[in-house]
Amino acid sequence: SHIYNGLYSDFPQLKNDTFLRAARGEETQHVPVWCMRQAGRYLPEFRESRAGKDFFETCRSPEACCELTLQPLRRFSFDAAIIFSDILVVPQAMGMDVQMVPGKGPTFPDPLKDPEDLQRLRVKVDVNTELGYVFRAITLTRHKLEGKVPLIGFTGAPWTLMSYMIEGGGSNTHSKAKRWLYQHPEASHMLLRMLTDVIVEYLLGQVAAGAQALQVFESHAGILGPAEFKEFSLLYLRDIARRVKDKLKEDGQDVPMIVFAKDAHYGVEDLSQSHYEVVGLDWTIDPRSARERTGGKVSLQGNMDPCALYAPKERISDIVHKMLEGFGTRGYIANLGHGLYPDMDPEHVGAFVQAVHKHSKQMIEQ
Ligand code: CP3
Repeated sequence: SHIYNGLYSDFPQLKNDTFLRAARGEETQHVPVWCMRQAGRYLPEFRESRAGKDFFETCRSPEACCELTLQPLRRFSFDAAIIFSDILVVPQAMGMDVQMVPGKGPTFPDPLKDPEDLQRLRVKVDVNTELGYVFRAITLTRHKLEGKVPLIGFTGAPWTLMSYMIEGGGSNTHSKAKRWLYQHPEASHMLLRMLTDVIVEYLLGQVAAGAQALQVFESHAGILGPAEFKEFSLLYLRDIARRVKDKLKEDGQDVPMIVFAKDAHYGVEDLSQSHYEVVGLDWTIDPRSARERTGGKVSLQGNMDPCALYAPKERISDIVHKMLEGFGTRGYIANLGHGLYPDMDPEHVGAFVQAVHKHSKQMIEQ
């Protein structure tokens, strides 16, 4: 069977493989759907579970991660689960202090300032020691999912993590991180290579722990121009997929990989030829033109504007229908163009999921 069962042969059998089939471009009976940040503050039960607890403490508890991952699946018929964690656990594993400050977001008290600061980072990161808590969360969650839907593992991409490590938090211009690219290109590549090495081991560890698909988040792609994107992002995105795929193949495994490079319009053709099965898209790209530019080479994922969820439910249904007509129903995974926001109405998320299933079933049956 094409359904990967991980190293743990006692994982429950997968009942809904629609997401995995769509990732591989195979026929499905409906278009699968999930949402970035589907485990999040828009859910009252999420806010209750997280109340008064430190964010990264929560990330280190496999039981808490498992519960938060499962919460959205109890409400909505999503076709995939994504493990609750964060992209910033990788800089932590490399020795950096990262805190989640309520109302402010992720904060590095001591960000990287100059190339000399690279010496502060761990050269060799043992992912089993530093990130074993994520692997344990994945294994536990894969069991508790009872084969309902596949479990997605994820990582931040090197450039996005580099920009956080230098900016020390969120930023509009990313000018501190971009300064490195222009003033210290060699040190930048050194840091990107260090991150790439950790990320490859981290993704392989997630698959060994039970992840059935992998998404790489290059959330800060759009801040780069085309040339900088090629040099400082694409190169490493490709290296990650190549190395992860080669190693998995050696072990007779195959796990679909998704690349989500937000706002990187100019990169869509290149991304479709980067060893990823799926290219994730933000809402600024027209579905038909994305299909044309990527040919039949990859499956596509996305890309409804998250803010469309503020629209009345009937309108959401119409928007979803148009999106499905644009992408087509084959080799397509419905999603938003970015994560859900905390003030979104869970009922409208439900309307989005239902609309994808309803319209796509009708389109496929015709
Ligand atoms: O998608 C999911 O449901 C899985 C969980 C997930 C989280 N973060 C949980 C989280 C995933 C996939 C991420 C990835 C992540 N984290 C990205 C890449 C995706 C993207 O949004 O572009 C980035 C850039 C981060 C860094 C980060 N972590 C930010 C910017 C924030 C928001 C800070 C804020 O105050 O709004 C976080 C915190 C975070 N990560 C939350 C969740 C549910 C919200 C905070 C909380 O629960 O207390």
